[in-house]
Amino acid sequence: MGAPLRRLLCGLTFLQALVAASPLPQGVPRYFRREPCSPHALLLRQLQQDLADDLSDGSLIFGPSNPAWDETIERWQMLSRPEIQVVVQPAEESDISKIVEYCSDNSIDFLAVNRGHGFTASLGSFKGVQIDMKQLTGLTIAEDGKSALFQGGSHAKEVIKTLWDQGYVTTTGSNECVGLTGPALGGGHGRFEGLYGLISDNILHLNVVLADGSEIGVNETSHEELFWAMQGAGHNFGIVTSMRLKIYPAQSATWHWHNYYWTEDKLEAVFEAWNGLLDNGNGPVLMGSSYGQISFFPDLNEYDPLLWWTFAYNGPADEAEEFLAPFNAIESISDEMGDVPYPEIVDPQDTGEASCGSGQFAFATVLLQTYNVTTERELYNHFNETAARYPELATVARLYHQGYATKAIREIDYDSTAYPHRDEILLALFLTLVPDGADEEMTEAAWTWAKESWALWQSGQPGREPATYVNYATGYDFETLEGIYGREPWRLEKLLRLKAEYDPNNRFRFYVPLVSS
Ligand SMILES: Cc1cc2nc3c(=O)[nH]c(=O)nc-3n(C[C@H](O)[C@H](O)[C@H](O)COP(=O)(O)OP(=O)(O)OC[C@H]3O[C@@H](n4cnc5c(N)ncnc54)[C@H](O)[C@@H]3O)c2cc1C
Ligand SMILES: *[C@@H]1O[C@H](CO)[C@@H](O)[C@H](O)[C@H]1NC(C)=O
Ligand SMILES: *[C@@H]1O[C@H](CO)[C@@H](O)[C@H](O)[C@H]1NC(C)=O
Ligand SMILES: *[C@@H]1O[C@H](CO)[C@@H](O)[C@H](O)[C@H]1NC(C)=O
Repeated sequence: MGAPLRRLLCGLTFLQALVAASPLPQGVPRYFRREPCSPHALLLRQLQQDLADDLSDGSLIFGPSNPAWDETIERWQMLSRPEIQVVVQPAEESDISKIVEYCSDNSIDFLAVNRGHGFTASLGSFKGVQIDMKQLTGLTIAEDGKSALFQGGSHAKEVIKTLWDQGYVTTTGSNECVGLTGPALGGGHGRFEGLYGLISDNILHLNVVLADGSEIGVNETSHEELFWAMQGAGHNFGIVTSMRLKIYPAQSATWHWHNYYWTEDKLEAVFEAWNGLLDNGNGPVLMGSSYGQISFFPDLNEYDPLLWWTFAYNGPADEAEEFLAPFNAIESISDEMGDVPYPEIVDPQDTGEASCGSGQFAFATVLLQTYNVTTERELYNHFNETAARYPELATVARLYHQGYATKAIREIDYDSTAYPHRDEILLALFLTLVPDGADEEMTEAAWTWAKESWALWQSGQPGREPATYVNYATGYDFETLEGIYGREPWRLEKLLRLKAEYDPNNRFRFYVPLVSS
């Protein structure tokens, strides 16, 4: 039976049940109540009865029959998705504590969802209520112009634009599709980290709802150890209803970008020039982001994967081009450049609206200190050979390399926050799309390709233990808790102690959990 039909029948039985039964007296345990026809419908009815009246006007509680359902539960990663039974969408920050308290008291699992770009496999074990943050996008700039209060449903695109229109910038993800809070709780990499550090480094204050529904203020002088923990491992501890983040006057009216396509024979030259520019984290702080992608561009070359590189500089073209001289010296298939206001820099870098889609992705990610040129050649050859074996997987497949300016990240005391990877300045990943209806062999091949790419990257830094950026953790078993949350034993010890104190029943266990249940 198809889902819509089942839902319709369920609705009918449900209506009959409502007509037949007198209202349930308060306090009748749920297991004595009339048997529903689906757990989803039961939960929806329960929440509508028990919770709806307590929430502020404009809050919504809905299930799969609502026309907004599909859009509301859509995610970037369509594999290992959380099972959403009911959506509760608070209209006010104060609703969140009521929702959380009710869910906790009734042993209903809940998950804060903002832009749905979280992709880690542990999300797939979730079943329950989506606390949908989309209405909570308020942004208030402080009178002194040094910070702003962002509600928990803020997201990069809106934040960037709203601040820019008033002459300010702040740290956000570099991809405009992602939320602000989600990345921030795990660090948060973006175009300003050379100047200002991670998103989490710029948090001044968090308004947090804990697992029991209590509301607390978290900052350097209030719950200061929790403040430490939520700057890197925050998803494990609470829901942020709003956060105060530093903001900065925009320095330059425009950003300069320059993109290049190169043939594969330039691979060594490109990576050597790039390592020179990135300079183990000492590169120019205004070269906010550079990305390098190896993939097929069939319009330019039918046979070989090509190199596509994009650079973005927080300043004028002539300044930027001095730093880019080594790349201009490498003969390209084509190149293109321009100067745009900061909110538009996402488009030439392919991190704007066009990159927001969703799909079934197989991928693996690494953190590195420098790009090993020998390894990059091995990765290229492996990529090309695997693509020949699995052409269906090759269209979207890419080896993606990120290079941010990172100076300010490394100037912050390493022990001062839970973010443990201030030395690992490069993020790289393999990603491909598993086609709809792919059989088991094809699906397996996609994940094997990802894993083998990961292993090659890792082999290029002999003697170094694997490290994983929490917001890029996919769920492989090579991603250990130590590799994610830090190898110094005191880090996990401290996190686990705080976890026991602030979330003893492990309600927050669906996003790279410190404690699996
Ligand atoms: C296409 C793409 C681009 C990316 N670009 C970047 C980037 O530039 N920089 C970077 O650092 N990372 C980036 N990431 C990784 C990103 O940090 C994570 O995917 C992050 O979880 C996305 O947050 P979200 O709000 O979009 O997703 P969601 O799935 O809505 O949220 C992710 C998790 O964050 C938690 N959460 C969300 N809101 C709250 C809240 N208000 N309070 C408490 N917990 C909350 C929940 O545990 C939730 O499961 C990218 C990911 C993708 C898929
Ligand atoms: C820290 O949090 C407490 C409690 O919410 C609050 O009273 C105080 O003003 C906060 N301090 C800062 C600097 O935000
Ligand atoms: C890539 O693979 C194709 C098909 O196997 C092959 O013809 C081509 O020479 C390879 N290119 C490189 C640069 O290795
Ligand atoms: C680069 O990777 C190769 C293996 O691919 C390894 O032998 C070599 O030591 C690495 N170089 C450095 C500087 O780590």
